[in-house]
Amino acid sequence: MRDHFREQASSFDSLYDDEASLLNRVARPALYARKRMVEDAIKSRKSPRVLDIGCGSGRVAETMLEAGAGEYVGVDFSEPMVDLARKRLERFEDRVSLVSGDFRTAQVPGDFDLIIALGVFDYLEDAHTFTRRIRELCRPGGSFMANFGRWDWLKGPIRILRYEVINSCPIYHYTQRELELLMLGSGFDKVDMVVGRSGFWVNATR
Ligand SMILES: C[S@@+](CC[C@H](N)C(=O)[O-])C[C@H]1O[C@@H](n2cnc3c(N)ncnc32)[C@H](O)[C@@H]1O
Repeated sequence: MRDHFREQASSFDSLYDDEASLLNRVARPALYARKRMVEDAIKSRKSPRVLDIGCGSGRVAETMLEAGAGEYVGVDFSEPMVDLARKRLERFEDRVSLVSGDFRTAQVPGDFDLIIALGVFDYLEDAHTFTRRIRELCRPGGSFMANFGRWDWLKGPIRILRYEVINSCPIYHYTQRELELLMLGSGFDKVDMVVGRSGFWVNATR
């Protein structure tokens, strides 16, 4: 999976180029919807300190910093993604720190008001390891927001073919009950969930 995101950094980044095109809005509605959810979350807080797990090329970071994030830390284990993010976020100067490494072991300076992981849990075989660490880095009263894949008989087989068969990149799906247990079992006090056709939007509060 790490190799997949090393090789695909530029093509993944370019998915954000034409958000206005009808084709992209129909093919990838979730990519843009989750960016808007995070933007709203930033605007509803006062200069929050944000951690972005699997920050990719910094597209969502840019939106969050423009929306008023006070301090931003991005972690990603694909070096080409981090390089793209570094260039893109240069203008925000010392509001930004980027960590190149695996979130499970990387040195991350906590605590955070808001922690996000977008498009990440689809690829994790050990979601628990992540959510427990996320809970530790979340300050009391802080929130964790992420999207999680849900099995869909229409899109599911196509995704399996694209990721697992063609790109050798396993993907994972969740149920609502599994996610509730995952969040509460990791120590979050409250879990809000929006259930969509092919995925869940989770907002867990400490
Ligand atoms: C689909 S991309 C999403 C990027 C970004 N969050 C976005 O929404 O634009 C998933 C990213 O998660 C990163 N990633 C996956 N597992 C990771 C891990 N264990 N530690 C750090 N980064 C990870 C990948 O390298 C990749 O850049």
